[in-house]
Amino acid sequence: MKKETSSVAHLTLNGKTYDLPIMSPTVGPDVLDIRKLYAEANVFTYDPGFTSTAACDSSITYIDGAAGELLHRGYPIDQLAAKSHYLEVCFLLLYGHLPSGSELESFETLVTNHTMIHEQMVNLFRGFRRDAHPMAIMTGVVGAMSAFYHDSTDINDPHQREVASIRLIAKMPTIAAMAYKYTVGQPFIYPRNDLDYSANFLSMCFAVPTQDYLVNPILSRAMDRVFTLHADHEQNASTSTVRLASSSGANPFACIAAGIACLWGPAHGGANQACLQMLNEIGTADRIPGFIARAKDKNDPFRLMGFGHRVYKNTDPRAKVLKESADEVLELLGVENNPILKVAKELEAAALLDPYFAEKKLFPNVDFYSGIILEAIGFPMSMFTPIFALSRTVGWISQWKEMISDPAMKIGRPRQLYCGQTLRNYVDIENR
Ligand code: SDX
Repeated sequence: MKKETSSVAHLTLNGKTYDLPIMSPTVGPDVLDIRKLYAEANVFTYDPGFTSTAACDSSITYIDGAAGELLHRGYPIDQLAAKSHYLEVCFLLLYGHLPSGSELESFETLVTNHTMIHEQMVNLFRGFRRDAHPMAIMTGVVGAMSAFYHDSTDINDPHQREVASIRLIAKMPTIAAMAYKYTVGQPFIYPRNDLDYSANFLSMCFAVPTQDYLVNPILSRAMDRVFTLHADHEQNASTSTVRLASSSGANPFACIAAGIACLWGPAHGGANQACLQMLNEIGTADRIPGFIARAKDKNDPFRLMGFGHRVYKNTDPRAKVLKESADEVLELLGVENNPILKVAKELEAAALLDPYFAEKKLFPNVDFYSGIILEAIGFPMSMFTPIFALSRTVGWISQWKEMISDPAMKIGRPRQLYCGQTLRNYVDIENR
């Protein structure tokens, strides 16, 4: 719903003035349309970290970093976390509206009926060492899906795009759970059609063939809330990776595998594992000042994991909900005195009182409290980022579908500020 405006910005360069059309969003900053700038003025714009660049237009998610606001198709994340559930949020992100009762029932049945993976894929897991990181396994297995689901790789066929979307959302929990089971040496547990999405994931992770597994509703609700809070987040690094990979026409499974790989980095989705490792390293509140001093020391590469964000310069609304959820889950589980949760809260309080963090507008982000909840549910740290990837699959897919179905889509091909050698002739080795 972008709006062309009649107003333009003027850029004067080498005595010539160029008009840059201004485009207005439904909400948020205007954008300068520079698409013709290079052809007309023979200059590039320069923005290596994309701090001031809109790479696309989208109607899926809006973030107001100053207000700490996150909307999915216009609905605030705190309302969705409190009142909705993950598969309903998936429907909202994919199709743009909250489903009717019958739409939701059909969608949930469709996802439930596609949770199994091709039985031949089981062999892929056995090619990994048992101590492989589950993210390495997910990246490989998801990429390999294109070798099993050929009938949903033609991105120009809307039906195949839909089939691939449902397959990825339905099978990602199964693949993540299998990656976990493989690394702990337990047998794979098949998905169950009598369980909802979150309960099914817990069952596939924690059930064993030797006894019945009863899903704890507290954990299942907490799991579903974690999924919801990680579902989509505008043009973050992994979503931008999926968009760029998809712009070449690559199949959806390969593109989602690229997104998983990007998410793994500790500056992005890998921060939830890095944050709990940091909290464990801090261990007790008396060691917090030393870690804060390291985070402020320019000569020390250490950063507070789970703190700071490119967009949020106020609280990350997801962190607020996750903090409340951590309190609730740990209390319900009778572990409210969890020492790590205590360290996390004292670290947050100390950092927010420190001028360095206030000046740089550094607040807890989505990764600061999520690990505490996931550990309370029973996951090892190595499963934190795979769970983030599972949750974000619907966001990647929604953004992928939006881009691929746009007739104006072009392959993404940025330029550069070249700082290398100018033309020079080859020198034979005897003359060097
Ligand atoms: C996610 O983009 C998304 O939406 C991502 C995400 C999503 O849902 O997809 O929200 C998920 O990735 C959350 C972020 C998880 N990462 C971390 O928690 C890792 C720790 N945080 C950072 O490394 C950092 O804050 C980033 C990567 C999140 C943001 O980096 P930016 O926007 O490039 O900011 P920057 O590195 O330029 O930092 C600005 C200043 C710098 O100081 P100066 O050079 O100006 O003196 O703030 C400092 C940084 O040194 N700073 C920190 C810090 N984060 C930034 N100092 C200490 N600790 C930190 N965590």
